[in-house]
Amino acid sequence: MHTTPERSTRPDYAMLTRQVASILEGERDLTANASQFSAFVYDTIAELNWAGFYLTVPSKKGEGQDLLVGPFQGKVACARIPFGRGVCGASAMEQRTIVVPDVHAFPGHIACDSASNAEIMIPLVKGGKLVGVFDIDSPALNRFSDEDRAGLEAMVAAFLDATDFA
Ligand code: SME
Repeated sequence: MHTTPERSTRPDYAMLTRQVASILEGERDLTANASQFSAFVYDTIAELNWAGFYLTVPSKKGEGQDLLVGPFQGKVACARIPFGRGVCGASAMEQRTIVVPDVHAFPGHIACDSASNAEIMIPLVKGGKLVGVFDIDSPALNRFSDEDRAGLEAMVAAFLDATDFA
């Protein structure tokens, strides 16, 4: 069994990234690994109120794509976000991590939980294809530093390596 590390405002991201690989080892299923990964992030990173997946799916109208909520930890969230909307959509379209120090100052931010004040959105790119985004919200303004961004991107990379997407 894996032990849960102490919560810390400056986590040891190298260790957490190794733990992601170790927890997911031997299982490549998307739902299983995404569930485990969101639980691990939520449990080990301090001051979060939401951590989870939005996965790329065809839109209901059959034109373009939406982001559909996947495994997560936190309060009930928006289920489906049209591609291009919100922080999710911006990160997906631009295929880059977006750090939002104050969500109230981000044009188009979609408020799912009024407790959220800061957010980081990491695109999920597998085999050159955008398959979704990993979204982390915090009640603390300016919650995510450059060190957090790099560390969380490394954790997401370990999740992507360990997981098959259909
Ligand atoms: N705030 C996000 C929507 C997802 S929720 O925060 C869980 C956005 O603006 O894309």
